[in-house]
Amino acid sequence: MAVLVLGGAGYIGSHTVDRLVEKGDDVVVVDSLVTGHRAAVNSKAKFYQGDIADKPFMRKVFAENPAVDAVIHFAAFSLVAESMKKPLKYFDNNTAGMISLLEVMNEAGVKRIVFSSTAATYGIPETMPIKESDPQKPINPYGESKLAMEKIMHWTDLAHGIKFVALRYFNVAGAKPDGSIGEDHHPETHLLPIVLQVAAGTREKLQIFGDDYNTPDGTNVRDYVHPFDLADAHILAVQYLREGNKSDAFNLGSSTGFSNMEMLKAAREVTGKEIPTVMAPRRGGDPDTLIAASDKAREVLGWKPAFDDIHKIIETAWKWHRTHPNGYADR
Ligand code: UFG
Repeated sequence: MAVLVLGGAGYIGSHTVDRLVEKGDDVVVVDSLVTGHRAAVNSKAKFYQGDIADKPFMRKVFAENPAVDAVIHFAAFSLVAESMKKPLKYFDNNTAGMISLLEVMNEAGVKRIVFSSTAATYGIPETMPIKESDPQKPINPYGESKLAMEKIMHWTDLAHGIKFVALRYFNVAGAKPDGSIGEDHHPETHLLPIVLQVAAGTREKLQIFGDDYNTPDGTNVRDYVHPFDLADAHILAVQYLREGNKSDAFNLGSSTGFSNMEMLKAAREVTGKEIPTVMAPRRGGDPDTLIAASDKAREVLGWKPAFDDIHKIIETAWKWHRTHPNGYADR
């Protein structure tokens, strides 16, 4: 048995490949390297550079790796703001890419897929914490493209028996504790890496986008999970499917929220740096608060996140930033 990881050179994909290899699994990675980094991929994994929507290429990958019995799919664009400006880019790469992938998986007889979905499929939540059964009403093309992917997998399961697990992530932060792999986006838009770039002196100031939200300190509240814990959830989900269980969706969060100001305070404590900050207008499309109910992943998948302390999560990210001030230095 082997696992095919699509988007295995990206932030969460590379941590998952690393965890799979450490467990002794055979791992095949496909990544276009449009946003991923070749250096992030554990050298024990077999690597192919290519696009998951390129059917002849993907047929070749499956033909050359007949031991693959499960796919973990991270190969999608994921920036909310960009998706508002370029919706077709998201529906093409994410949604159409999924159709093409499922066609090739069906031809190859590979009947299991674990998929990175997102809290963005819920839109503006009506109740908190958010449960898997809550309404999914995305407010941006990114969330809509991923909700469509979940629905496509549902109907493909009914028709062709391809079983899926959709993992709806909340916010992700941190790096491998030894500092060897971490977060490196171009451009960087996420809160913690920007905070740490300011702490490291490679960026001048942090802008906090809005302090008039309906939250205790007026800044957005988010639920942060470490990529190690996300990686473990994907590995458990593959096992769940291999055991013959039904298709399902699970939230992955810590069930605890931190406001942007609380994240800044914790980062100041971890780094010992001042981190100059200015208040800026709201960024479009940010819900007040996003906190996951993730009891279902704990109960059904047996998920036990190891990183439950925001300071420890920030420490791992800070180690990566200090040792890699220019990320993988390949852009
Ligand atoms: N923020 C700032 N300043 C910055 C960057 C971010 O104040 O320079 C704020 C944002 O406005 C938001 C919070 O920090 O309030 C977190 O923003 P991120 O960009 O780090 O993360 P998001 O919550 O926007 O997005 C993440 C994922 C998406 C996913 C979403 C679902 O990156 O892919 O969570 O909740 F859709």
